[in-house]
Amino acid sequence: MSTRSTHIAPDADASIRETDNDAAVARLSAAQKGYLHDPYIRHLVPRAHLQQPRPPLINVGTYVRGAAIDALVEQWLQIADKKTKKCQIVSLGAGSDTRFWRIANGTHKDTLATYVEVDFPEVTTRKAMSIRKSKELGAILGGDIQGGTALHAGKYHLLPGDLRMGPTALSTLLTGILDSSLPTLLLFECVLVYMVPSASDAVLRWFVDYFSDAKTPLGAVVYEMFNLEDAFGKVMVSNLKSRNVSIPGAEPYRNLEALSQRFLSTGFNTAHSETLREIRRTWIAPDELERLSMLEMLDEIEELELVLEHYAVSWGLAASGADASWGGWGLGKK
Ligand SMILES: C[S@@+](CC[C@H](N)C(=O)[O-])C[C@H]1O[C@@H](n2cnc3c(N)ncnc32)[C@H](O)[C@@H]1O
Repeated sequence: MSTRSTHIAPDADASIRETDNDAAVARLSAAQKGYLHDPYIRHLVPRAHLQQPRPPLINVGTYVRGAAIDALVEQWLQIADKKTKKCQIVSLGAGSDTRFWRIANGTHKDTLATYVEVDFPEVTTRKAMSIRKSKELGAILGGDIQGGTALHAGKYHLLPGDLRMGPTALSTLLTGILDSSLPTLLLFECVLVYMVPSASDAVLRWFVDYFSDAKTPLGAVVYEMFNLEDAFGKVMVSNLKSRNVSIPGAEPYRNLEALSQRFLSTGFNTAHSETLREIRRTWIAPDELERLSMLEMLDEIEELELVLEHYAVSWGLAASGADASWGGWGLGKK
């Protein structure tokens, strides 16, 4: 009999998948406290009624990130509505996100031709089960909802896959679902940070190549932590490490220029990045800030700003040969 002990390495991907629960509980908390409107998230969080609310600082962060990404998505749908009538959205590392249901119940529902979500099979299986169990989510999808690790219902496609799979597997996963002639928006909401930069660059390049032949506008939104070299950033990294979560995708992105450069070096033509701190200060309307301040007491604005300056929303556009209206897509000043 062997005397060697069997060492089972902790599953780093399992810890990464767990981050979906954090994101979903944060969104549930922000919705329950009145920061944002999301009637769907409670169907995707297990035992939603027993979850503790998150601290005000987290709720404000969740609000600012959501408001910025909502605005970029809304503008994309508006431009598509005017120019091409239809568009597609692909959410990578979608986790328990509810955006599809919010769009499907909103003013631009007819502009959306296809909505694709990709995440690890363990996450998509769980999400598919929650969707099948919820009358409210199911009613918006319509029809007979089948599914195991994947789920396909009308415009909505939930696909299992590891984004580090490489270009050939990405082609197998997405070809036949995506139409390369439709303007397409990619959403990477707190996901690329968990991948090494070469793997995330390969994903961005695959999409640029897939849409470039048809000269179709391709937009991408990335939200993630960055600027982690200072004392506060180091604490963030070590907190995550204590939960077995490493973030190799944050390493090269020490400032906003580097975040924008990622798009330019993977084939996008234009790119912009902004910290959540700046978005809150310059882009959230004063009456909205006033409304938020009434919801909960925030002790320290300085502390909030310190947290928010370690997160950024970036957006890039690959649209050579497309109608100039797409050039106006982005967060301007409000
Ligand atoms: C922090 S959560 C964010 C979820 C969602 N985008 C949101 O903002 O609410 C990160 C998600 O990315 C997924 N993810 C991370 N790395 C991935 C990979 N290599 N392939 C597929 N999904 C991945 C995780 O499983 C998790 O659902």
